[in-house]
Amino acid sequence: MTFDLTEEQVAVRDAARDFAINHLLPTVIERDSKGIFPYEQVKSMGELGFMGMMVGPEFQGGGMDTLCYVLAIEEISKVDASAGVIMSVNNSLVCWGLETYGTVEQKEKYLTKLANGQLLGAFCLSEPEAGSDATSQKTTAREEGDFYVINGTKNWITNGGTADVYLVIAQTDASKGHKGISAFILEKGTPGFEVGKKEDKLGIRSSDTHSLMFTEVRVPKENRIGEAGFGFKFAMETLNGGRIGIAAQALGIAGGAYELAVAYSKERKAFGKPICEHQAIQFKLADMLTSIEAARLLVMKAAWLKDQGKDYSDAGAMAKLYASQVAMDVTIEAVQVHGGYGYVKEYHVERMMRDAKITQIYEGTSEIQKIVISRSLLSKLN
Ligand code: CAA
Repeated sequence: MTFDLTEEQVAVRDAARDFAINHLLPTVIERDSKGIFPYEQVKSMGELGFMGMMVGPEFQGGGMDTLCYVLAIEEISKVDASAGVIMSVNNSLVCWGLETYGTVEQKEKYLTKLANGQLLGAFCLSEPEAGSDATSQKTTAREEGDFYVINGTKNWITNGGTADVYLVIAQTDASKGHKGISAFILEKGTPGFEVGKKEDKLGIRSSDTHSLMFTEVRVPKENRIGEAGFGFKFAMETLNGGRIGIAAQALGIAGGAYELAVAYSKERKAFGKPICEHQAIQFKLADMLTSIEAARLLVMKAAWLKDQGKDYSDAGAMAKLYASQVAMDVTIEAVQVHGGYGYVKEYHVERMMRDAKITQIYEGTSEIQKIVISRSLLSKLN
């Protein structure tokens, strides 16, 4: 067992760190405050190869391992968790799903441009009445000649207003329950496809979250991903990897808040000395770092299992469950270390505290991760 990073992993981590500091940090407070999507930065992330990191070079991706990917998401999210989720959705949910289950034609038409950053993707599973209970899909896709005709509504879709390509999960045969759900590739601008209201969110405000409406939207049959009825399995398999990306995002949020808390504690003086010399602060920093390191091990293990071709669904769920709790705990403590300064936007940690919360909710709430973990452990007991 080794904890050393390869030269490539170090180079990717450092490139992501430089990009975050030079291109995300200068505008992060304003974008959060006004809810501005980082168009320019996402374009640059595509040019730098951050949008399709694990996609094979034959489809214009970076051909990198999952460890490289989580290191990059962590560094980006240390500075800007909104950029982190935009990247995570495109890489883990959209590119991975298409590369793993798409046809050659689908890969050539869509994946190449999603991987090189020319196009942006969104993953559309959640509905007004199907969040955690994802099998309760109400969106329908009925067959009509060479097309499927989609009707319904999706909610809380990351990249919802900015994406070019949408992977849409819909019910094709309600009588078959989750085995009657299918997945489709839908292009922006298809008649009947409407982007609904933009959510005014607590955190990750620079990412773009929308509801989507489909009224008699015609999708060619060649845009179905996998067989009819494979859509729920497709969504679950895709989310297994997505959760590693969100765990890395949570790790980054925690790491960013920790680094700011350390720096502030060395500068700020109280009772005649820097506050880092007070045990009250030292203990907080020690707890923060210990929990971040523990989360990092879970995230790295999940990424490593995926790279080894081993089962990673439990490991990804554990990584997300734990890292998202660490993100919440560490950011709250980082605000506390900053005192009154921590409560104002200029010092970044209040944003990180707001951003942390969503990592316990999207791509499966913490409660869903516990369901995934407990079902798996019980099945192994039998
Ligand atoms: N991996 C692979 N397959 C899985 C799976 C997993 N993690 N979890 C379930 N499945 C399969 C099961 O094996 C089963 O298939 P078979 O019938 O062939 O055996 C099928 O899916 C149905 O599973 P269950 O009977 O367990 O279904 P359930 O309804 O009891 O529970 C659930 C499933 C795990 C709770 C699931 O609904 C779930 O994960 N819910 C959370 C959904 C979620 O994460 N949504 C996030 C939205 S996307 C998002 O946030 C993206 C974004 O924009 C940031």
